Amino acid sequence: MSARDTPLVIAHRGASKARPENTLSAYELAIRQHADMIEIDLHTTRDGRIVVTHDAELEGIGGEGEVADADFDTVRSLDAGEGEKVPTLDEVLDAFGKRIPFNLELKQSTRGPYPGMAEATLAAVEARGILDQTLFSSFYDPVLQAIRDAHAGARLALLVSPRYPDDWVARAQRLGAEAINPARPLVDASWVATAHEEGLAVYSYTVDAQEEMERLVAMGVDGLFTNWPDRMRALVGPRGGVRRPAPVDTPGTVS
Ligand code: G3P
Ligand code: CA
Repeated sequence: MSARDTPLVIAHRGASKARPENTLSAYELAIRQHADMIEIDLHTTRDGRIVVTHDAELEGIGGEGEVADADFDTVRSLDAGEGEKVPTLDEVLDAFGKRIPFNLELKQSTRGPYPGMAEATLAAVEARGILDQTLFSSFYDPVLQAIRDAHAGARLALLVSPRYPDDWVARAQRLGAEAINPARPLVDASWVATAHEEGLAVYSYTVDAQEEMERLVAMGVDGLFTNWPDRMRALVGPRGGVRRPAPVDTPGTVS
């Protein structure tokens, strides 16, 4: 895979520094700021509704216990920030699915995968005719495998954290993933080169500082997750453009 001229600007939880993360207003702003894609985090309530919030626990939005143990009405009664509600996947896809591509990150509860969430997420995407522009990602191979088993053509990205940094090529290939989404500290020029040799795009998370954006873009990453999509858009230029920062020397890596 060759590096893009213009790396993807992926709005992490929406434009999540300017608006409360994972809210409809954060997604609306990300579109206005010309993001290429929006990343959102998925969990499932006890009564089977897929909701968009980052943590498995509700404490961060003023609740108690886990999403997995709460009814949808309870989750809906909480404040996702500045009075906004926790959105459902269906609401997000209905409002924005035809306006911008999504990276749907499938989370787990503290007890493991949410039964049926992978298949239900895939079905929600297919029902709206947006499978081709949707990227499904997860840190958890079995979750991605469930999507792969349900649809040979689904687009998958394997998230790689510093806690489990090994075997990512083999894991991605087993899953038929098209991309690897590594934590920012894992990425160097040799990582990017290996991924590209293996036909994998590289989308790294989460990058907010301009110098870090410049460093990673110069390495040839294919996109960055950022809480500031406007800043990254200003850095890389308009969609489809060719403006890139000058290459930087990266000691200790292959060029
Ligand atoms: O998908 C990239 C990134 O969002 C993964 O980490 O904790 O922000 O969901 P986290
Ligand atoms: Ca995420």
